[in-house]
Amino acid sequence: MKITFCCTGTKPEPWLAGLRAAFPGAQVEVWQAGAPAADHAVVWAPPQQFFDEQTQLKGIFNIGAGVDALLKLRLPPRATVVRLDDAGMSVQMAEYVCHAVIRYFREFDGYEADVKAGKWSYRKPRERALFPVGVMGLGVLGQRVAQALTQFEFPVLGWSRSVKAIEGVRCFAGAAQFNDFLRASKVLVNLLPLTPETRDIMRLDTLAQLQAGGYVINVARGAHLVEEDLLTLLDRGQLAGATLDVFRTEPLPAEHPFWRHPQITITPHTSARTLRDESIAQIAGKIRALEAGQPIVGIVDSVRGY
Ligand code: NAP
Ligand code: GLV
Repeated sequence: MKITFCCTGTKPEPWLAGLRAAFPGAQVEVWQAGAPAADHAVVWAPPQQFFDEQTQLKGIFNIGAGVDALLKLRLPPRATVVRLDDAGMSVQMAEYVCHAVIRYFREFDGYEADVKAGKWSYRKPRERALFPVGVMGLGVLGQRVAQALTQFEFPVLGWSRSVKAIEGVRCFAGAAQFNDFLRASKVLVNLLPLTPETRDIMRLDTLAQLQAGGYVINVARGAHLVEEDLLTLLDRGQLAGATLDVFRTEPLPAEHPFWRHPQITITPHTSARTLRDESIAQIAGKIRALEAGQPIVGIVDSVRGY
């Protein structure tokens, strides 16, 4: 068996070592132009030339959960495209989102500013029931985040394409229930995949429907959010703030207003990192299953876009 590795921005050696350890008899190499045909590929942001040459691939394993960039390319028609299915990301996402929600709810920004100013001052406790958190996207990551938020006794709502039943979460589904979901939420967490249907989903008319004191947490993709509309709603006082991990242009350009906006907290696309050992173990298990003709989870539906 031949496995080719083509991951832009990723140091290949530890991945190659892990894959070689999982498949001692296999040839596992970094892809180079003109390389012989491989059976399976481990990829992140490969060039189009990679797929134009590697037309015999049976499995394409993306080392991330989101496949929006991959699906922009012309892929070999017979290949099964597989995304990471959790692989240690959901617990990181739950940490990140709970941290952001609690920081807003408990006004820790304000306390930090007070302490820096040498002030010992209290704020009135806020009523948790008045902070419903709506999670857009109830997949592998969204469900874990929604469940984690219920542990802190926030009212939790969720929105997905198909109908879901999740304990402690008020679930909404489909375009018909989207506005009801927004109106019932104060904090909005985005964990949708980026598809033609979800691009620009957080914009003036949708975000304006959040309850007073609305707060946005975007941990999915930058193109879900119309950045100027967020700034407009913050300026108008219709939103209280945002925590953003992903941006339309990454790295965020030096002159971008988000860097210095007092109501916006940014992080550099780090809310849920790919964990190498967990990912190699998951990919190796799926290569073995595919080779044995067994079913696997995490197969991407290119028509649906995720
Ligand atoms: P997933 O398991 O595929 O879940 C996607 C969820 O979105 C599903 O619940 C799906 O509904 C819902 N959805 C898709 N299209 C929809 C639509 N048009 N309307 C309503 N709901 C829709 O994906 P995941 O593993 O949770 O990952 C979600 C995204 O997080 C990834 O695509 C990636 O972009 C992002 N991500 C970001 C980071 C980071 O570090 N910032 C890390 C990992 C992932 P159904 O359940 O009905 O199909
Ligand atoms: C990261 O953004 C991922 O999609 O895994």
